[in-house]
Amino acid sequence: MLVLGIETSCDETAAAVVEDGRRVLSDVVASQVLVHAEYGGVVPEVASRQHLATVVPVVSRALSEAGVEPRALDGIAVTCGPGLVGPLLVGVEMGKALAYALGRPVVGVNHLAGHLAAVFLDHPGNPAPPPYPHLALLVSGGHTLLLRVDGPGQVKSLGATRDDAAGEAFDKVAKLLGLGYPGGVVIDSLASQGDPESIDFPRPLPGRQDLDFSFSGLKTAVATRIREHGLPEPAQMPDFCASFQAAVVDVLVRKSRRALLREGLRDLLICGGVAANRGLRTALAAAAEEDGFRLFVPTPKLCTDNGAMIAQAGTWALARGERAAWDLSVDPGLPL
Ligand code: KG4
Ligand code: ZN
Repeated sequence: MLVLGIETSCDETAAAVVEDGRRVLSDVVASQVLVHAEYGGVVPEVASRQHLATVVPVVSRALSEAGVEPRALDGIAVTCGPGLVGPLLVGVEMGKALAYALGRPVVGVNHLAGHLAAVFLDHPGNPAPPPYPHLALLVSGGHTLLLRVDGPGQVKSLGATRDDAAGEAFDKVAKLLGLGYPGGVVIDSLASQGDPESIDFPRPLPGRQDLDFSFSGLKTAVATRIREHGLPEPAQMPDFCASFQAAVVDVLVRKSRRALLREGLRDLLICGGVAANRGLRTALAAAAEEDGFRLFVPTPKLCTDNGAMIAQAGTWALARGERAAWDLSVDPGLPL
């Protein structure tokens, strides 16, 4: 089964061709980071216009790199939410138009289900996929979720952020530090050279036994520190970033351990853009060793937004017989 996946929910225009839900024949991602960097964050209207300009070339390239004629496709999968409404509409209209012209089925894919599916793709950097049931820590620019996954599409939320998402915290703190947008990758790289114990940032909701997160207090602590002490000198930046990152990672690790225990699960999948963070990967690997659970981490390229994960989740949906009607629309707040 050859499926084209299209992803335009935020600031990446992405398309990929996946065979049988496993083999990635092409995976094209056109990032808009440089366009939005000027504004310090994603500007939805600018993102929509960029998607409009790039979606056709990106889809064409995904097909030509895969060596696949459009007519050979068995179906088209497209992200229909959650995300930014304008950007989502561009992808959904593209997917429907192509499917209509080719006489093939189209399915709408939940972006979060896509993140959960990325680990099931064959990729040299991917582990063997986790068995069901497993726990998933989904950490992206828009979401921070602990999920019990009993099967494809069988997901129960155990905990979520009450305010900012983990990726959002990275991006906002990077902005406060004048490190540009997006901040996760820059903080990750500076943190690797710093001392995580140099500044004792607060760990959000430390005493609570629930599985929810909160990152806005940490962001305020960073802002307060900058107001009182000024911006860190360039030489101090790695220590500052390492300390901030340690506070985020600490909470993510603590709650994941608690969720595994509470649910009696032995397998943990991490996914979403923040799952590319080296500090998080290292800390969870250490926890896995100590507690005896197994950790599954997709290769970094499949943690951040891509079309292959949408094609993967779409293949499962098509195989289950799901078909979208031609009035398929978008839902910016689509729940998992
Ligand atoms: O999953 P994703 O590509 O898009 C959303 O669905 O939101 O995640 C993007 C988020 C951004 O906030 C970005 O700063 C963060 O993931 N991110 C990272 C790293 N790479 C991306 N955060 C920390 N460390 C990284 N290496
Ligand atoms: Zn995402």
